[in-house]
Amino acid sequence: MKIAVVGTGYVGLVTGTCLAETGNNVICVDINEAKVKKMQNGEVPIYEPGLDLLFHRNIEQGRLHFTTNLAEAIEEAQIIFMALPTPPGGDGAADLSYILGAAKDISKIIKEYKVIVNKSTVPVGTADKVRAVFAENTDIEVDVVSNPEFLREGVAVEDFMKPDRVVLGTKSERATKLMTDLYGPYVRQGNPILFMDERSSELTKYAANSFLATKITFMNEVANLCELVGADVDAVRKGIGSDERIGKRFLFPGIGYGGSCFPKDVQALVMAADENTYDFQILKSVMEVNERQKTILVDKVLKYYKNDIQGKHFALWGLAFKPETDDVREAPALYIIDALVKNGATVTVFDPEGMANVKGVIGDKVEYADNQYDALENADALLIATEWSVFRNPDFDKMDATLKNKVIFDGRNLYSLEKMIDLGYYYNSIGRKLVD
Ligand code: UDX
Repeated sequence: MKIAVVGTGYVGLVTGTCLAETGNNVICVDINEAKVKKMQNGEVPIYEPGLDLLFHRNIEQGRLHFTTNLAEAIEEAQIIFMALPTPPGGDGAADLSYILGAAKDISKIIKEYKVIVNKSTVPVGTADKVRAVFAENTDIEVDVVSNPEFLREGVAVEDFMKPDRVVLGTKSERATKLMTDLYGPYVRQGNPILFMDERSSELTKYAANSFLATKITFMNEVANLCELVGADVDAVRKGIGSDERIGKRFLFPGIGYGGSCFPKDVQALVMAADENTYDFQILKSVMEVNERQKTILVDKVLKYYKNDIQGKHFALWGLAFKPETDDVREAPALYIIDALVKNGATVTVFDPEGMANVKGVIGDKVEYADNQYDALENADALLIATEWSVFRNPDFDKMDATLKNKVIFDGRNLYSLEKMIDLGYYYNSIGRKLVD
């Protein structure tokens, strides 16, 4: 099939590349000339495991192309994916100007029937708005389909190639047939393609992310309570997760959810509810609790140092909002740094992928180490904010030799309490007994 993908951000690029992988001819279009040039020269603009291989293979095989020319991209395309940003506008609601602008541009160029697929996360009712833009500008028939993405950063390629489900909002038979053909190869193991009306499809995305954010937040509160009553959240997690109705995944307590999706989507759903005079109370609490959780490690640090960390120096391992990504948007680490610095401390950080992005946001507010051990030099304590694999089994002899004190505040529960007792550390983690 011939596909166009409008927007080569994270979602667009993964979508375009993975659609080419099953033999489709894909043209990705973006207004950013420098970025398009880079991609034409074989450079992947984001860090995403597994994407490199598919990207290069499909370019070499002549199935994946990049252009800044919208007309060229969509001329022969049967299906046009829109993967454009929907940033929160001034009032917190998703700003649809990119999507509606692109719809207008496309509507003025098309010469024959097209399926317009909305991949971006958009408020309920957006498909209707896009349809209206086409109706205003052209007589040519189009079908507008809602197709939310459920890609997790770090495993996005795997998620795209083997989705748990594909959600498609359309009532058109013609579009249903084309989309079924397109997604067939991705669900051959038997996972469902779920067709529904556009509004349900649009809401599904927000509901899925908000539910997961709620699950994590619930566990974070259980963890906080565990500390107070002397229980171990790991045991509780396994105890409840074994019940299939609850499930084992997304029950890991930590320092709050971050990233480009959960915070934005939870907020957007609360707002959409408000606009429809519904008070979505549970999600309001989720947002509040998550804000608090992001600096819970700093609360622990302040308590340990009796509220005085003026002149103290800390090492921070992990900046990205989660492992296997360089994304630091809404990363708890940034909130931790801010709080430490505000209280008069200095910080040296290390992250395997996220350093450049953090530098872009906070510049010289912290020092950047070349590796995880250098970060420990002269540090009064180590804080851990991201569960990168390289932090899971470090060389403790090296750590002991470098850290000023054997003190760790671990926001991701990387080490067993037994090990920390054996090694003689002060070890303060989330929802587990304090080792001191
Ligand atoms: C999420 C959704 O999972 C995905 O379906 C959607 O399309 C985009 O948003 P992503 O933001 O990449 O994906 O990250 P995810 O792996 O879902 O983690 C989100 C946040 O929750 C991270 O900050 C992570 O650290 C946190 N988390 C996750 C926990 O704190 N505990 C857990 O048990 C799981």
